[in-house]
Amino acid sequence: MVKITIDGKELEVDPKLTIMQAAAQNGIHIPHFCWHPQLSVSGNCRMCLVEVEKMPKLVISCATQVAEGMVIKTDSEKVVKARNAVMEFLLINHPLDCPICDEAGECKLQDYAYKYSIGASRFQEDKIHKPKRLELGPHVLLDVERCIMCSRCIRFTEEIAHQSVLTFTERSTHVVLTTFPGTQLDNPYSMNVVDICPVGALTSRDFRFKARVWEMSSTESICVGCARGCNINIWVRNNEILRLTPRENKDVNSSWMCDEGRVNSFKIVAHERRLNGPLIRKDGIKVEVGWDEAISKVVMELHTYRKYEIAGISSAYATNEDNYIFARFIKDVIGSKNIGFLSHIQTGSEDDLLIRADKTPNSLGALSVGAAGEKGTAGIDHILKGISKGAIKVLYVLEDDIAADPKIAEALKNLEMLIVHSSIRNETTAKADIVLSASTFAEKHGTITNFNGRVQQIRPAVEIIEQERSLDGMAMSRWDKFAAQNDSWGKGIKRDARSSWRIIAAIASAMGGKMKYASEEDVFKEMSERISEFKSLSYPKIGNQGAVLNEIKK
Ligand code: SF4
Ligand code: SF4
Ligand code: FES
Repeated sequence: MVKITIDGKELEVDPKLTIMQAAAQNGIHIPHFCWHPQLSVSGNCRMCLVEVEKMPKLVISCATQVAEGMVIKTDSEKVVKARNAVMEFLLINHPLDCPICDEAGECKLQDYAYKYSIGASRFQEDKIHKPKRLELGPHVLLDVERCIMCSRCIRFTEEIAHQSVLTFTERSTHVVLTTFPGTQLDNPYSMNVVDICPVGALTSRDFRFKARVWEMSSTESICVGCARGCNINIWVRNNEILRLTPRENKDVNSSWMCDEGRVNSFKIVAHERRLNGPLIRKDGIKVEVGWDEAISKVVMELHTYRKYEIAGISSAYATNEDNYIFARFIKDVIGSKNIGFLSHIQTGSEDDLLIRADKTPNSLGALSVGAAGEKGTAGIDHILKGISKGAIKVLYVLEDDIAADPKIAEALKNLEMLIVHSSIRNETTAKADIVLSASTFAEKHGTITNFNGRVQQIRPAVEIIEQERSLDGMAMSRWDKFAAQNDSWGKGIKRDARSSWRIIAAIASAMGGKMKYASEEDVFKEMSERISEFKSLSYPKIGNQGAVLNEIKK
């Protein structure tokens, strides 16, 4: 360790650090454009200039290593003057686009212009005009006039995405960011350049002009597109999700996420096939019913059959809490040993950065809470065999479209009763006799366990119709439903859906089983008391960066 002083604060820091890193680690912000913690240092913007005693000139803090006894000033008169000059220089040709720019409200140039510039320009001449609205690839557009040539996007594509397609051409104020001839910015991680661009030069085709940033709320959660579990923020306006952005977690996704997860993983929430309340098959036709009627029907049907005639299939899409309650319900309340789990690993569709072949968020979680049956019977073959022999007559499926596989769909024809939890209409709900509308990852609180055993929290970003009213025994009238749905406008209506564990707990209670939990945290507490992998874990311990399962830690 070496002793340094920054702005009068004495610090002991690792000698391998730069001044920028040492300052950041100790909560001192040095303004910067081109430096990014996950990329190589380019040192081209000069915004991070600081004064170091005994050095003749100001130095760039992003590329200057600390040394014993260094005395650094980040806010001296000389530094402030130099910063003002850098800001004035950068703004000479920058267009006055803030009122129409997607980045406004989260733009470094805008923020720093308020904080570090003198608020006036001496430049009287015409600004240089450059191309606008250029398509760099399928997901990203470029406004060259707004580019401050920090080269973050170039370094990201070379160093992280390993696709060298971006470069600068021309010189001086005429510099232009472009793609190499015959190439385009088209890789599985291309949209990360939009996040790291410090200005509004790079915009996302999916989110462009949908909302100003201050109109949206943002909620810390986890992407459910694959077993990586990238940490994300969910951005919502009027109860509608407009975008996902990556949230830093060094142990999971660094600062990145893939384009597929970013653009598609949340589309299920406002999907055109989204279910809005439970359905029961009556005279061959599925009709919408209230929760009380649906739950009574499930209870009545389950009472009709013997315990070994009933089987359950857990879900790699549902949370740990949902799977745990489901497993307890099938094993303890119904008393059946018939429980199985369907894996969704897609061969060949993973890479070395983030993307996993398992396209579900919680396979490991479902297995570790005991929702996959006895060891060695984790698949569903034993259940399908039971159905084809006529030994299993009722199947209860938790949040998984198992009938999307034609072979499984064929086997389900032998069933007398199919009960399904789902968020959208799919092949399995089409075959079901009772459908219970489940809330999506963006509407509930809970935990999921990623492929290497990190338990992480998902949080509700979108409201659903208030849960407790009907589960406490009060049926929700049609008018209540209408009023709740129309609480917000646009696509962001509130859906009539429930967390799966709540639905199951209500059914279990009606069957005389003891399942009284006030919240998902209550369920998790019981899991931590009963399952060794979860011992000593809690929601506060998991926090916003996750915590690793005990077995994996060993
Ligand atoms: S487009 Fe953005 S990230 Fe790329 S060089 Fe320009 S300012 Fe930097
Ligand atoms: S790698 Fe997986 S978890 Fe991460 S953003 Fe992509 S789909 Fe989502
Ligand atoms: S952040 Fe140091 S030169 Fe750009």
